[in-house]
Amino acid sequence: MSKIIIANWKSNPSGIKEAFSLARKIREGVAKIKNAEVVIAPPFPFLEQVGIAVKNLKLGAQNVFWADGPYTGEVSVNQLKNLGVKYVIVGHSERKIYLGETDDMINKKVRAVLAGGLSAVLCVGERERNGIEIPPAVGEQLKNALLGVKKNFLRNLIVAYEPVWAISTMPGAKPDTPDNAFKAMVYIRKIISGLYGQESADSLRIIYGGSVSAGNIRSFMRDGGMDGALVGGASIRPEEFVSLVRNSI
Ligand code: 13P
Repeated sequence: MSKIIIANWKSNPSGIKEAFSLARKIREGVAKIKNAEVVIAPPFPFLEQVGIAVKNLKLGAQNVFWADGPYTGEVSVNQLKNLGVKYVIVGHSERKIYLGETDDMINKKVRAVLAGGLSAVLCVGERERNGIEIPPAVGEQLKNALLGVKKNFLRNLIVAYEPVWAISTMPGAKPDTPDNAFKAMVYIRKIISGLYGQESADSLRIIYGGSVSAGNIRSFMRDGGMDGALVGGASIRPEEFVSLVRNSI
């Protein structure tokens, strides 16, 4: 299966021209790379223009609300769909930390995204790490996020393992290892197997949401057994991002 690399631009860049140009550079750079699916997830105000700029790549959103209607400041699944969005990141650690997003909100978002026919990129991961094992809190996040989600929706689910302590912009960030990523991948498949059976667990796409660069992506994919990556900082540096995509396959 081809790797999926999702560019999470977070709240960057500051203007539409820069967003358009960044998207074009990425599109041109990855045009000849086979066996990698590239998704660009820009901030909401740039979705339409970036969608035009990336044409053959896929468009992602960084967040969503679970309903249409009187919800000031929110953006619905239908609105994203109508803009051509295919993937929606749900429950990113920055939203949990800075916006107070809870497991219940994440569950509502995952269900709305899947019910709307889009793919959900569900982020789970521990904020701190003591010891070598993946903490049970990761499994709890996963189970809570998937409450009420039927098995046939799993084909549109991607789980991103985010060791929050390894996100480069977190104060005191520490580097993660491919070995830990591998453990997380096995752990997540075990939880999914318990919920939905082995077949669903085996076919689930699990991607790495800690810090990756063009230099370390290969080891996280190969030794970490990951199906792709959710990329922050490196995704707004076009040359590095293109090398990262190339090195991921
Ligand atoms: P960095 O790649 O900037 O460390 O961020 C990781 C991340 O949060 C991806 O969503």
